[in-house]
Amino acid sequence: MLPFHEAVKPQFQQVNDLIVSQLHSDVGLVENIGQYIIDAGGKRLRPLLVLLSANSCGYRGDQHIALAAIIEFIHTATLLHDDVVDTSDLRRGRATANARFGNAPSVLVGDFLYSRAFQMLVDIGDMEIMRIIADTTNIISEGEVQQLINAGDPDTSEDAYSEVIRKKTAQLFEAATHTGAVLAGSNRSQHEAMRLYGHHLGMAFQLVDDALDYSGNTDELGKNVGDDLAEGKPTLPLIYAMQHGTQAQAELIRGAITDSGIDQLDAILEAIHATGALNYTLERAGHHVRAAQACLEGMPDSAELRAMSTLADFALSRTF
Ligand code: IPE
Ligand code: IPE
Ligand code: MG
Ligand code: MG
Ligand code: MG
Repeated sequence: MLPFHEAVKPQFQQVNDLIVSQLHSDVGLVENIGQYIIDAGGKRLRPLLVLLSANSCGYRGDQHIALAAIIEFIHTATLLHDDVVDTSDLRRGRATANARFGNAPSVLVGDFLYSRAFQMLVDIGDMEIMRIIADTTNIISEGEVQQLINAGDPDTSEDAYSEVIRKKTAQLFEAATHTGAVLAGSNRSQHEAMRLYGHHLGMAFQLVDDALDYSGNTDELGKNVGDDLAEGKPTLPLIYAMQHGTQAQAELIRGAITDSGIDQLDAILEAIHATGALNYTLERAGHHVRAAQACLEGMPDSAELRAMSTLADFALSRTF
């Protein structure tokens, strides 16, 4: 548990219990794979954000527990699918579900988690929340497909990259904080503050993720570094290094993106460091962290609100 979980500790425990009980299926393989990835933990930031947002907006009911579990199921479903499309073999410090059980079961169990989330959403029965979550899953899929199209294309612009990370990652953070506020029935300006906070936090989160893919430590991250280069992904560290490096460095990176190869990893890392590409990526993340924190300024002070500010700092400084 990270320090910002403290503010909602008992509720967070309820979410974790619900996640485990809602994984149930009479089909053994579904439950096995579901448990396999859920047992590995993960940071559970998105469900935490549902709780923090709902509480910050004065929510007094108990439906935020189910909403938080729903958001984590959707996140987990995207990870199951993402590791198949990224051909990743390490997640949360263990073999990915696709490496352990195969691609087909991973995709299908991802579908199970998506649909379980929607069953639970219907039980909450709030049309505005349903609309936000339905739109969100749709947008995430578009983001992942857009990224697939950009893979191997060294001419992908920073704007095109930003649009991909907004859709594939920031959208779910945004849905977490937005739906938490909607559940609380707070006023529109609070909905908007929570929604925008989630957006900026999610942007920062993915920018840092993309920096860590070049600078992180596999043991700490629990996933392999270098996966993005291996898939020819034009993420911001590469885009910036191509724009600001020597012609030879730009050519080297273009070639690696086009051919999806990591054999030139050392030279590429050198170019990334020499051009300050990671610093630039983290600067962009820092900008989003400050924007997220600014969204909290008009809200009534509470332990949960302070936790949201601390969490934004963590999104930037994290190493896992
Ligand atoms: C991983 O998210 C996917 C990204 C958006 C980068 P997390 O880093 O939150 O994954 P877990 O849930 O903690 O494993
Ligand atoms: C995460 O992007 C996006 C989604 C899970 C939809 P990444 O592909 O960078 O996430 P990791 O690095 O595998 O966790
Ligand atoms: Mg991935
Ligand atoms: Mg991916
Ligand atoms: Mg990544």
